[in-house]
Amino acid sequence: MSAPSLNKTINFPENMRSAHELILMAKNGKKGNHAGQSYALPAFNVTTYDGVQAACEAFETLGSSGVLAFSNSALKHFGHGDAILGLETIHEIVKFRAKKSSVQIATHLDHGDNIGEHGRKVIRGAIEMFTSVMADNSTDHANKCATSLKVNMDATREVVELAHPKGVSVEGELGVLAGVEDEDTHSEISTYTDPIELKDFLTNTGVLLLAPTIGTMHGPNKGKPGDKVKLNIELAHECLKIANEINNEIIFVAHGASTLYPQVVEYAIKNLNTLGLNNDLETWKNFVGTDWDQIKGLIGAGFCKINTDTENRQTYLSALIGAIAQTSSKVDIRYYEKTTYKALVDSYIQKLIMAGNYGVWHEPKINVSEFKFNLNV
Ligand code: 13P
Repeated sequence: MSAPSLNKTINFPENMRSAHELILMAKNGKKGNHAGQSYALPAFNVTTYDGVQAACEAFETLGSSGVLAFSNSALKHFGHGDAILGLETIHEIVKFRAKKSSVQIATHLDHGDNIGEHGRKVIRGAIEMFTSVMADNSTDHANKCATSLKVNMDATREVVELAHPKGVSVEGELGVLAGVEDEDTHSEISTYTDPIELKDFLTNTGVLLLAPTIGTMHGPNKGKPGDKVKLNIELAHECLKIANEINNEIIFVAHGASTLYPQVVEYAIKNLNTLGLNNDLETWKNFVGTDWDQIKGLIGAGFCKINTDTENRQTYLSALIGAIAQTSSKVDIRYYEKTTYKALVDSYIQKLIMAGNYGVWHEPKINVSEFKFNLNV
């Protein structure tokens, strides 16, 4: 029996949509009543309340479609150790925030796990409260090993059966993505997606969002300093062709899509020097992001969700180091938060512009071609 298709008649809370609906618009190049070139939705992993607000401000500045992504560890952080409490809190906050928004927003569970007991609970909670979930079952997170195709397919299909009738889109993963994102999302192993398995996986699970592994990595060390990170573009196109033949509404997701902005690194290094904090200089110098030109090439081909976490964390940290280098004696949290908040908004705006995600719900409120991302505020 085929997997249930995504119910597109569900009404989510005001100004909220399934991630797939917004990403399909991007694949079809839909902005307002016009259809043009494909663009992508950066899915921003958000870990603080200010991050939610900053991302929404960036979406509204540009009239962008928004995806706010929350990993299990982010939810635990919001719930002070209790991921379900975090989920409930975020659900209420985003619902309230979206109601006041000029754009459409999706909430997405990143790297949900339908194999471990805790993960299964969180996925089920997210199906009730979010508009999209990832069922990352290519890895057995508790035992830190890759799962078999059958285990991955069965666990992912189970999520599709629960989520699709409720209008909640599901992202599957095939292949194992390397790198460290946070305490709950990391892997020392990596395997490329097998195109022969892909056909079976997509047909059996019915997922409309797929994260193939083509050489991207989570975290700030995606390759050797000085080298360009090379993605397996040939494999990406082979997989896209297979997916399109099955269902042209299947959209690919690039995990590990942080490019890491050189000016953010330079700004941190300059201010670490000012503060005389030399211990971390080498670490900052060795950060390597994913090559943007390659990601950009894939957007037009069907990778219309690009997961972005590390570069925004790095921007926040660099801005904070800069603010402290300027003065460390302001006994007022708001003084420092104002700086990190502005940096986050600009970091989000920068990536939305790079991805072509602006002018979707209304005209941008800034001149996009003149926008300059500058930490030195
Ligand atoms: P980065 O570490 O490149 O930001 O990737 C984040 C990600 O893929 C989240 O799922």
